[in-house]
Amino acid sequence: MAPTNICCIGAGYVGGPTCSVIALKGGDQVKVTVVDINQKRIAAWNSDELPIYEPGLDEVVQQCRGKNLFFSTDVAGAIKAADLIFVSVNTPTKLYGLGKGSAADVKYIESCARAIAEHSEGPKIVIEKSTVPARTAETLDRILRANCKPGITFEILSNPEFLAEGTAISDLMSPDRVLIGGSTTPEGQKAIQALSAVYEHWVPKDRIITTNTWSSELSKLAANAFLAQRISSINAMSAICEATEADVSEVARAIGKDSRLGAKFLQASVGFGGSCFQKDILNLVYLADSLNLHEVADYWRQVVILNDWQERRFSTRIIKALFNTVSSKKICILGFAFKKNTGDTRESAAIYVCQHLMDEGAQLAIYDPKVKAEQIDLDLKSVSQGQEDRVDRLVTVHSDPYEAMDGAHAVAVLTEWDEFKTYDFAKVYATMPKPAFLFDGRNILDHAALRQMGFEIEAIGKKIH
Ligand code: UDX
Ligand code: ADP
Repeated sequence: MAPTNICCIGAGYVGGPTCSVIALKGGDQVKVTVVDINQKRIAAWNSDELPIYEPGLDEVVQQCRGKNLFFSTDVAGAIKAADLIFVSVNTPTKLYGLGKGSAADVKYIESCARAIAEHSEGPKIVIEKSTVPARTAETLDRILRANCKPGITFEILSNPEFLAEGTAISDLMSPDRVLIGGSTTPEGQKAIQALSAVYEHWVPKDRIITTNTWSSELSKLAANAFLAQRISSINAMSAICEATEADVSEVARAIGKDSRLGAKFLQASVGFGGSCFQKDILNLVYLADSLNLHEVADYWRQVVILNDWQERRFSTRIIKALFNTVSSKKICILGFAFKKNTGDTRESAAIYVCQHLMDEGAQLAIYDPKVKAEQIDLDLKSVSQGQEDRVDRLVTVHSDPYEAMDGAHAVAVLTEWDEFKTYDFAKVYATMPKPAFLFDGRNILDHAALRQMGFEIEAIGKKIH
């Protein structure tokens, strides 16, 4: 049997790892080509330094690349050859016009649909992989039908990806579930079977859930909204804990034992980041508002408001603790990625904490094991519009954490990288002006031991005595 020919449009955080695992697990039953208009990104996928850092990804790509996994900029050629086309392009929050600040921008999805219609010479199954606004499948369908060559048919499926960054490869290798939404027509059901067969190379059949297209699209938004809501809920509790004698870690442990609640995703933090949570909630808010469900919109909007507040609350604590002025004081920022084990900084709480500290004139010395200096520069300039030069004046990025911490008035942990727990803080303490402050935005350090060394500690949702 000829291998299933798969094309993935978009070689990003979702398309790249997902297709690498499909190639690994499908073996000679599949041929996968990942295409992107970004030449630099494709060149990186074809090099020894992949464009994204993800534990285990290098090994998978090395095993498959050039055999049944290809990275290319030939979008037209890959579309022509494919039976199944994943659309895995970005859908950022709109920054202009109608729905500015909340609706998802589907212009990249639309341009993919037009490219697919133009280059298809036979029937195709087109799969929405990117998280999209509800009913985007309808948009795809209409564009494809209005532009395709005579006699060519398309089936649209929704197959949202639930992987989390930092654990993408293990999430893909053993997913909690694979969700496939499609039309209830016989052709729709056949398309669902064809996609299901790709996953059945390694995912047990009872973990492959099929639904109608609209349930599938909405489930992805709902899953991210529920996850983010849990973090805002525990972060709301953290503020109450700080004002009382309660400890948020103890509260999380106590409530997490309830099997109805579960223990995961109850880690209070400086705030959630990442490319999905905020964007998807705002997308849900926009949908609810446009359906005239304003109370529903307000309910979900509050999850984002609480998160912004939590970030601001953390930077305000730093300023207040440092005697209400951080101007010209050196503050070391440990961690810039939105979570550990990724180099991704999209919507990272660190960006907004640093923004606030820069507003107050602090000198920031930043260290992150995986984020490149250019990325930090770009992110901080993007929140310094009209005064970009302040980043050059106020910020230094270091490749040695001890150099970043040396002589700082305060150290703030913003990402939960494991290596931070192994540092020799006694050595750091000796270099710092006193009182020496440590702000743990992730509750990962040994606060009692640090306190013993002489540090003044502020942590999320607890009082350190
Ligand atoms: C998320 C969803 O988990 C995933 O299913 C979806 O496909 C994409 O969005 P991701 O953004 O990669 O994945 O990371 P996730 O692990 O969910 O963390 C998101 C943010 O929440 C991070 O900033 C993380 O540090 C924070 N977080 C997570 C907490 O603050 N506390 C927690 O208990 C869990
Ligand atoms: P995600 O996190 O959803 O994977 P990314 O931004 O990491 O998002 O990746 C999306 C990729 O899609 C980018 O590399 C971008 O260049 C690519 N892309 C966007 N539009 C198109 C298009 N019309 N054709 C091919 N690739 C595209």
